[in-house]
Amino acid sequence: MITIDQYNFQDKKALVRVDFNVPLNSNFEITDDTRIRAAVPTIKKILNDGGAVVLMSHLGRPKGGPEEKYSLKHLLKPLEEVFQMSIKFSPDCVGAEALELASSLQPGEILLLENLRFHKEEEQGNQIFAEKLSLLGDVYVNDAFGTAHRAHASTAIVADYFPHDKVCGSVMQAELDNAQRVLSYADRPYTAIMGGAKISDKIQVIEQLLDRVDNLIIGGGMSYTFAKAQGGTIGTSLLEEDKQQFTLELLKKAEEKGVKIYLPSDTVIADAFDNNAQSQVVKSGTIPDGWMGLDIGPETIATFAEVVRNSKTILWNGPMGVFEFQNFAIGTKAIAEAVVEATKNGAYSLIGGGDSAAAVTQMGHSHDVSYVSTGGGALLEYMEGKQLPGVVALQMEETPLT
Ligand code: 3PG
Repeated sequence: MITIDQYNFQDKKALVRVDFNVPLNSNFEITDDTRIRAAVPTIKKILNDGGAVVLMSHLGRPKGGPEEKYSLKHLLKPLEEVFQMSIKFSPDCVGAEALELASSLQPGEILLLENLRFHKEEEQGNQIFAEKLSLLGDVYVNDAFGTAHRAHASTAIVADYFPHDKVCGSVMQAELDNAQRVLSYADRPYTAIMGGAKISDKIQVIEQLLDRVDNLIIGGGMSYTFAKAQGGTIGTSLLEEDKQQFTLELLKKAEEKGVKIYLPSDTVIADAFDNNAQSQVVKSGTIPDGWMGLDIGPETIATFAEVVRNSKTILWNGPMGVFEFQNFAIGTKAIAEAVVEATKNGAYSLIGGGDSAAAVTQMGHSHDVSYVSTGGGALLEYMEGKQLPGVVALQMEETPLT
């Protein structure tokens, strides 16, 4: 794989796949620009070498045609602020105008293309569409780790058109290096913290982790399915009925493998799914009818935080409660603080994308942990041991020895 530092972009037009799938509010303002900031080193390296940059990304999940709320034009101003320069915009990612804008681009300039997913061919991995994209640059750079688990035209297929000029961007490289660190040579004790709403999203990664970790902490929405499967009452908390058996098997497997599982012993419950709902703390598995668990309780926080503080390797994916409600973000914040403390004491901590990454970033702690991943699903698939199409596409064909 060619790394960004190994390639000289002088007088080259780099077609760069970034993951600018960032959250926007109703005024189309970016509410978390982590992914944009992450892409800066790759873009600057190309510009500093004397190259030009054609940026392509998806935003959201449009239905294969233009949708105002998913337009990348909303990102133009914020990008201009980040780079302190004016940036060109192509209202379509392929076609005559995009070609014209790309071909007149000068070294040191940036062109941003409209959302790739406004063409259904992108997600279909369509070859003709990939070929059209390939005409916009003379070197391909993939820095979109967050989308590397998709075999889409811009993330994988387009690389075939650049057999000798396909380059791994610096975010992609850093993500792979950091994920490898917890996959291959973790210092012990190694603790994985799994949270978030659904077990079904994380079954495979949890199973893989049982062969690696010493401690597995389970919090957030997914913990209520464990509580129910163990005979508890969970009111109207999140439940994945068909995953109850899996949770019991998981507990058994963990015991066989010597992995210590930590589940919440108490929980903060509310009488409505609302930040201002009435709330109280109860023992796990004793939630009355009409109430739902929205956060871990104080006893659980103390136990989980202690385990985290004593760990030497920490992988965290998913919040401990409904983090977007301030009143139910206490557990997630406390775990973030414990991860920061462990890191200060020499632990290595990898925060998996999505809400746990947002939690750490919003608390101003993104520099106090070892690495905050920009990938959600991509990181999980990589941790499951799957090959990511976006990474495979960057690998160079072996030249046979003569
Ligand atoms: C993400 O946010 O995880 C990536 O940008 C991929 O988005 P997708 O799940 O819509 O493919």
